[in-house]
Amino acid sequence: MKILVTGAAGFIGSHTAERLKIIGHDVIGVDNFSPYYDLKLKQLNVKSLADNDIDVLKIDLRTDDLSEKLPKDIDYIFHFSAHPGISNTSTFEDYFSNNIIATQRLLEFAESLTKKPFFVNIATSSIYGLEATFPESVPPKPASWYGVTKLAAEQLALAKSREEKLQATSLRLFSVYGPRERPDKLYTRLIDCGLNNKPFPLFEGSEKHLRSFTYVQDIVDGIVSVIGKEEVCNGEIFNLGTETESTTAEGIATVEAILETKIAVEKKPLRAGDQSRTKANIDKARKLLGYNPKTKLRGGLEAQVYWFRKSFE
Ligand SMILES: NC(=O)c1ccc[n+]([C@@H]2O[C@H](COP(=O)([O-])OP(=O)(O)OC[C@H]3O[C@@H](n4cnc5c(N)ncnc54)[C@H](O)[C@@H]3O)[C@@H](O)[C@H]2O)c1
Repeated sequence: MKILVTGAAGFIGSHTAERLKIIGHDVIGVDNFSPYYDLKLKQLNVKSLADNDIDVLKIDLRTDDLSEKLPKDIDYIFHFSAHPGISNTSTFEDYFSNNIIATQRLLEFAESLTKKPFFVNIATSSIYGLEATFPESVPPKPASWYGVTKLAAEQLALAKSREEKLQATSLRLFSVYGPRERPDKLYTRLIDCGLNNKPFPLFEGSEKHLRSFTYVQDIVDGIVSVIGKEEVCNGEIFNLGTETESTTAEGIATVEAILETKIAVEKKPLRAGDQSRTKANIDKARKLLGYNPKTKLRGGLEAQVYWFRKSFE
């Protein structure tokens, strides 16, 4: 099958593009190389994709003419591109344009095609709000611009399915970590601080936060399991993540044990919109997609430390 992966230069999109290629698909990546974080990381990801014969087209989904620049004979779209995370330096416009406008433009492009692709929207546990422990049927209460705009993007995709203009599903991912993790997120930052003797900025109260820390290859397992299950997935939302909860303090201790070093902490004020607890309820994904994430935090973090050392030392 011919598959378009948006956000392919990023963390989870690049891993998914590689997996899709490995399982025999023809993959085309799209990314605007947003400077939200160090572009060197995205270049490394793109190099790995190129080594696997996957091209990444430089396209901004907010502004470029998609019918001119994108192929027309695609079977699937995996839509990862987004303005992610909670950041004090990001504006509402960043979230609005990259998460809502870009998604709507991509959906309109998909709908305009003669052969309609199946649309997989990549969503987030932030849609649930400050606590994300619920099944997909519970009404969302997002508490950040990120969560609100990702909810809107999800609904835009599902509305196309309800209108029977496209087949679409939405996958809500929980706290993904592993090689290529964004540098604004917990583990890449912790590893950087531990190896390079920098203080780790710890937001007030965050050491007690509970998280379904999910290894990126376990997330990719769930994402690609949609292929071949289009009838079951169309119009549906699925949580994807591990059911095992760990505190941020446990995560820090695990990285310290792997690096055999104590990481200095610099306390920061409470960060508004931060979730206090995420625990993926994956009953639906387990039943309908056969989803079964297995990687333990220590093993996944060892792989992430190995990646960091190989890439940056
Ligand atoms: N990382 C996590 O823990 C996590 C958890 C839940 C959901 N998600 C979702 O997974 C997806 C991927 O997240 P990630 O952590 O890999 O982030 P990432 O920032 O590494 O990847 C997103 C990519 O999208 C690209 N992009 C942004 N705006 C674009 C635009 N207008 N046009 C084209 N490309 C654009 C960026 O340049 C980037 O490379 C996002 O939709 C995010 O909301 C991530």
